Amino acid sequence: MTDPAPRPAVRVRELRRVFGDRAVLDGLRLDIARGEFVALLGASGSGKTTLLRILGALDGADGGEVLVPEARTVVFQEPRLVPSKKVLANVTVALPRGRSGHGLRALAEVGLERHADAWPATLSGGEAQRVALARALVREPELLLLDEPFAALDALTRLKMQDLVGELCRKHRPAVLLVTHDVDEAVRLADRVAVLRDGRLVTDEPVTVDRPRDPGDPAFGALRRRLLDDLGVATTPQPSTAPERTEVGVI
Ligand SMILES: Nc1ncnc2c1ncn2[C@@H]1O[C@H](COP(=O)(O)OP(=O)(O)O)[C@@H](O)[C@H]1O
Ligand SMILES: [Mg+2]
Repeated sequence: MTDPAPRPAVRVRELRRVFGDRAVLDGLRLDIARGEFVALLGASGSGKTTLLRILGALDGADGGEVLVPEARTVVFQEPRLVPSKKVLANVTVALPRGRSGHGLRALAEVGLERHADAWPATLSGGEAQRVALARALVREPELLLLDEPFAALDALTRLKMQDLVGELCRKHRPAVLLVTHDVDEAVRLADRVAVLRDGRLVTDEPVTVDRPRDPGDPAFGALRRRLLDDLGVATTPQPSTAPERTEVGVI
């Protein structure tokens, strides 16, 4: 007898969510294995945040089946720190009392232990987002939901944050759903990449580009072009020596 398939961290079947007369999610199916990093691409308004909010139990579904682990946390585009609490207190805000040691360790992991006693208002955008990441990781989630967490950061900070998130996810091994409209970000980080369009996933495939992932790698470029096609973005052929930065435009 063979072993049964391991229990996935996330199992979504025939998910439906309707706003007014529009079904934003319609027949969506998604599995995420334990420890797997999935990037979800989609144009603005395609329903990415709607899906993430349902997985985080911040919103309900109108139909279908959604199974997620109890231990799950969300990181949003903006850090959402409590301005009247210092950095360490923000990290430990959802923990039982007396866990400041855990909070300090989480801050050290994002390189901010020296800022434990600072006020959120004194942090840069990138630092504040690292605090939000520490606050999410300190709860040791089985599922980490990231909704465009780097979108508000400048390009260099964004690359550093991508590296940090990749490193921390490899260490802690939560299942991850990263919502992004940045194709390069998805291909750089994910084990699997999916494209949300017309309410369902039109693409859902493993990323087989060798790590560390180089945007100049022809395999990276080929996947990028295919994903842009799936997103409905016309691409013109580029010389292979000039990796273009590609984002799905906001309409
Ligand atoms: N609470 C809501 N009430 C009505 N419409 C909503 C609500 N939330 C999202 N929508 C609509 O659903 C669509 C998908 O939104 P969203 O999931 O935020 O897209 P994305 O994150 O991909 O940009 C948009 O047209 C948005 O206006
Ligand atoms: Mg969104």
